[in-house]
Amino acid sequence: MQTFQDIENIRKIRAAEQSKTWGLVPTMGALHEGHMSLVRRARAENERVAVSIFVNPIQFNNPDDLEKYPRTVERDLMLLEDEDVDLVWTPPKEIVYPPRFQTHVAVEKITQVLEGATRPGHFLGVTTVVAKLFNMFQPHRAYLGQKDYQQLAVIRQMVNDLNFPIELVPCPIVREADGLAMSSRNVNLSAEGRQQATCLYQSLVRGKELIDAGERTATNVRREMTDIVLKHDRATIDYISIANPDNLNELETIERKVLISMAVFIDSVRLIDNMEVEV
Ligand code: PAF
Repeated sequence: MQTFQDIENIRKIRAAEQSKTWGLVPTMGALHEGHMSLVRRARAENERVAVSIFVNPIQFNNPDDLEKYPRTVERDLMLLEDEDVDLVWTPPKEIVYPPRFQTHVAVEKITQVLEGATRPGHFLGVTTVVAKLFNMFQPHRAYLGQKDYQQLAVIRQMVNDLNFPIELVPCPIVREADGLAMSSRNVNLSAEGRQQATCLYQSLVRGKELIDAGERTATNVRREMTDIVLKHDRATIDYISIANPDNLNELETIERKVLISMAVFIDSVRLIDNMEVEV
């Protein structure tokens, strides 16, 4: 496994391995089993696997969240070595955003709802850094987790609109035994918070049960999901959504496949989760 901080070496290796298929796993580090599932899939489907580890400051709308974001690069590198990754990029901020940096990639409508509505500027930061990664690594495939459902939809829109010749591979959410979706932010939960954090999954499961049982009024589903979360005294709801999975717009009536999703603060730790429900 080769690890670099600079861009030149990444480009050189990529150019020298032109005829190989490349899979890219973009990450912000603090790797967990969710990330490792992306890496393993990339390893199985490509001749070369690259991973980027960069806590991208411009996608954090909250400075406290950026400061508290876990950083475990040495451990991450050991995990990636064990998975037989070929190339890892761990750039410092100054290399990704040099002093005169002034270009951003903006995806419009689909970034305005859900995460975009409560985290202004977040997706502008995501698409800008992902566009840079795609240009540098020129991967055939990029592996992204479905826990960040909207992120995947936004990147898919960017890939289509800007004609990146890249196949996006969505990978299923990996959960702890009690249902909590794996996330780098989970390590910031207190012991009590960790127990209460299962309320996201419980709420999603209840939402799915109601829809499966024939409930078609989104407000009724949202109300019961809200009640479950609010039984937990450390939980504060940012949003609970029943949306059209294609454009992520909120629905009043459930008529076909829907995306139920939520963002909940457990103490000050913001967690997201989602589930697609077939009708
Ligand atoms: O999902 C993440 O870890 C980040 O948003 C990404 C895609 C690596 C961009 O910084």
